[in-house]
Amino acid sequence: MDTQDNGFVLSREGEATLKMILNRRSVRNYVPEKPLSTEILYELVKAGMAAPSAKNQQPWAFVAINDHSILTKLAGILPHGKMLAEAGGAIVVCGDMTNTLEGSGGDFWIQDCSAAAENIMLAAEAFGIGSVWIGVYPNKFIGVENVMKMNKLLNLPGNVIALNVISLGYPASHDTPKNKYNEEKIHHNTWK
Ligand SMILES: Cc1cc2nc3c(=O)[nH]c(=O)nc-3n(C[C@H](O)[C@H](O)[C@H](O)COP(=O)(O)O)c2cc1C
Repeated sequence: MDTQDNGFVLSREGEATLKMILNRRSVRNYVPEKPLSTEILYELVKAGMAAPSAKNQQPWAFVAINDHSILTKLAGILPHGKMLAEAGGAIVVCGDMTNTLEGSGGDFWIQDCSAAAENIMLAAEAFGIGSVWIGVYPNKFIGVENVMKMNKLLNLPGNVIALNVISLGYPASHDTPKNKYNEEKIHHNTWK
């Protein structure tokens, strides 16, 4: 334990966790021809499933991909996902519409799946794997036709909506993360 005089205590594990969070950055260039093992992909999905969800509904489902031909086809479909052609793997984070909360809480699937996605990206960082979030939902962003092509390629059933595709791979370079800390966005106790 490292006690600091600014009022907090950070364990060594805590320090490492914080470092993962602060060091994560989007990685779009990968070491070529280095596929991710199925075991690692499943470890990442496990981290995703550890995310919080409203009423612990866990309305998610995941497609874990390390087949290069599928990654290449996805790169051809997603207008902002060209890096998938060089990726070692990808995880499609999906909402299962047959497993969302009843009534007014139904849309919480988006937050639940986003939390799972961020967990996956942080776990990837812990494994030394680079990642980037490729937005799919809301579908108008990439176009309904592209979404339909993707659903067909991945054989997604009608009740399943892809929130995003997380492109994964061993980083080709180690760039420094952006410093996004901005105290002007913090309102202390009340909005100033
Ligand atoms: C909802 C969402 C959608 C995104 N969509 C894309 C995308 O389609 N393609 C892409 O290259 N990056 C995408 N990103 C990654 C952002 O561009 C990136 O997170 C942002 O520029 C901040 O950089 P950083 O992740 O390195 O901190 C997306 C991120 C989020 C959260």
